[in-house]
Amino acid sequence: MTPLLSVRALSRVFSSPGGILRKKRQFRAVSDVSFDVARGEVLGVVGESGCGKSTLARLVLRLITPSSGAVLFDGQDIASLPARVIRPLRRHFQMVFQDPYSSIDPRLTVRSALMEPFMVQGIKLTAAEARTRIDDLLTMVSLPLSMADSYQHQLSGGQKQRVGIARALALSPALIVLDEPTASLDVSIQAQVIALLHDLRDRLDLTYMFISHDLALVQYFCDRILVMYLGRIVEVLPRGALPVHPYTKALMDSAFIPDPHQRRDIPRISGEIPSGYDAPQGCAFAGRCPLAEPRCSQTLPQLAPLSKAHAVACHVLGPVSHNIPVPLEPRNAV
Ligand SMILES: Nc1ncnc2c1ncn2[C@@H]1O[C@H](COP(=O)(O)OP(=O)(O)OP(=O)(O)O)[C@@H](O)[C@H]1O
Ligand code: SF4
Ligand SMILES: [Mg+2]
Repeated sequence: MTPLLSVRALSRVFSSPGGILRKKRQFRAVSDVSFDVARGEVLGVVGESGCGKSTLARLVLRLITPSSGAVLFDGQDIASLPARVIRPLRRHFQMVFQDPYSSIDPRLTVRSALMEPFMVQGIKLTAAEARTRIDDLLTMVSLPLSMADSYQHQLSGGQKQRVGIARALALSPALIVLDEPTASLDVSIQAQVIALLHDLRDRLDLTYMFISHDLALVQYFCDRILVMYLGRIVEVLPRGALPVHPYTKALMDSAFIPDPHQRRDIPRISGEIPSGYDAPQGCAFAGRCPLAEPRCSQTLPQLAPLSKAHAVACHVLGPVSHNIPVPLEPRNAV
């Protein structure tokens, strides 16, 4: 079966503004990223701040254009389509942000916020249809129907995020990209929102790309995890598999802190991340890696398969031959 989403050799370069005394510089935020997401899969994306997770999400949803590469949604390359052709397709892929009200006018009632996606798509509903749809959406995210008339300032953080999820669900999408959807919530509320997302995926046959700083959460919630470092995927880790890449290991080791209040963020690993302006020609992790060898700073390790769903980009711990094609298929692909 065709994967719902296929990303191929996707890259995005940002240019810094040049000046009289300043040369224009290029920043590689996402570099040569490829992966598939099967229908119904939950794909996690982790990595330290600035490694390109949100840029990848925005590229996948064509909120920004790639510098190169392809994004095939249900077999169609949305990376190369003109904006007017993308607009009607947008109903099939939606996003939930960390702060859902960053994209909603705070002067709108919940009802108006939930109606907005229909208006943007030019979908005309009768008053009775609109009422039924709003009631359905509020019920789906377990909010009381009376909340339709509330404003943002009357909602708690968890309620706002439920409205954000309801808005993403309004047009019955197939794919939802969740960019740190629970990062600003208390742990107990976070658990409720995750339980809701779990339940919605089962009930509505949704596919998720789930970006998070919380490694324990990603390991619990996701079928596979993409580990990103300086714009590249360094490991594709199926659920339950032990990490192999030294960076993933460092993340996982330092994330194993029993107190959930302390383990929410990606831990700090000693050493500096190189700048995306001067990306090294070899492995970007070499300056921080305890296993680094001379070849590590000379040539870029390619992502190569360890097993059907597990891949790693490392000269020392990766598979011996790097000439095998990368396992792009998700675990539950047939
Ligand atoms: N529009 C832009 N112009 C220039 N640089 C950008 C732009 N958007 C992102 N970047 C840079 O690209 C890099 C990746 O940013 P991105 O927001 O994707 O990281 P992230 O992994 O989502 O980080 P965080 O965990 O903090 O959300 C960062 O260094 C960021 O400064
Ligand atoms: S390629 Fe070398 S520097 Fe990079 S992670 Fe592997 S061992 Fe470490
Ligand atoms: Mg981000």
